[in-house]
Amino acid sequence: MLILGLESSCDETAAALVTGDRRVLAHRLAGQEAAHAPYGGVVPEIAARAHVEALEPLIAAALADAGVTLHQVDAIAATAGPGLIGGVMVGLVTGKALAHAVGKPLVAVNHLEGHALSPRLSDPDLEFPYLLLLVSGGHCQLLLVEGVGRYRRLATTIDDAAGEAFDKTAKLLGLGFPGGPAVERAALLGNPKAVPLPRPLKGSAEPHFSFAGLKSAVARAKDDHSPEDLAASFQAAVVDCLLDRTARALDAVPEAATLVVAGGVAANTAVRSALEGLATAHGRRFVAPPLWLCTDNAAMIAWAGVERFAAGLTDPLDIPARPRWPLDPSAEAVRGAGVKA
Ligand code: KG4
Ligand code: ZN
Repeated sequence: MLILGLESSCDETAAALVTGDRRVLAHRLAGQEAAHAPYGGVVPEIAARAHVEALEPLIAAALADAGVTLHQVDAIAATAGPGLIGGVMVGLVTGKALAHAVGKPLVAVNHLEGHALSPRLSDPDLEFPYLLLLVSGGHCQLLLVEGVGRYRRLATTIDDAAGEAFDKTAKLLGLGFPGGPAVERAALLGNPKAVPLPRPLKGSAEPHFSFAGLKSAVARAKDDHSPEDLAASFQAAVVDCLLDRTARALDAVPEAATLVVAGGVAANTAVRSALEGLATAHGRRFVAPPLWLCTDNAAMIAWAGVERFAAGLTDPLDIPARPRWPLDPSAEAVRGAGVKA
């Protein structure tokens, strides 16, 4: 089986070719950091236009890398949401057009499902069910992954996502954009105990996350500490909160033999190693995809396409792009969660 995957939901344009036996034949990525850097964050209209310009050449390059033509793929998988709607539409409409042109099925992929299943691309031994900590720029959730398309949300953030907190803290400290890697680099040079910061919801009976108060505390401490100490202390507080909430979830799902982390923040070394320790302490296996598979890419979309296509799940060409698309539609909205699913 050979699947072409397309990703365009945020600020990475990407195309990849992945086989049913987990070979990544090609994965191409065009970042837009330079275009958004002057604004300190992703500007949706700039992102959508950049996707339009980048996508077609990327697909051609990916096909050339893999040494295949479009007629040899079994299906075309494109991110259909959630995300910045202009960008999502660019990738989805391109996927539909290609599917129609070569008479192949379309698989409309939930970007979050791409992250959620990505560890099964890098680890052939990862079996359902597993506990997933999904930490990205837009989301911070704990999910029991029971199978393809079967997700039970155990916790979500009541305010900011984890990656969002990294990005806002980086902006506050003048560390640049994108924020996560910048905070991680600065944190290496600082003392994680230098700045006393809160651990929102740590020890709380409810399962959820909260990061907004942490960011405000960094803002208040800003003038009294170095950016390095602030970054290190902030990162330590985030790790603490992630560990506490994940430990609670591990106790709630004894059927999950493995703890998995995915999404952009899973590229953070401090986060990964702390979670690995937690899993070991709880007698669970720990799986984290390689760094390139944590941040947005099209290989994870192609792989979700592999899993869905293998399960007989293809989509009609009139399927709409969705700005919001929760993995667990039955999960209730939580207090203060705003627009986040
Ligand atoms: O999954 P992703 O690439 O895009 C979304 O779907 O949101 O995640 C991007 C987020 C950004 O907030 C970015 O700052 C964060 O992941 N991130 C990191 C690191 N690398 C990326 N956060 C902390 N440490 C990192 N090394
Ligand atoms: Zn993502």
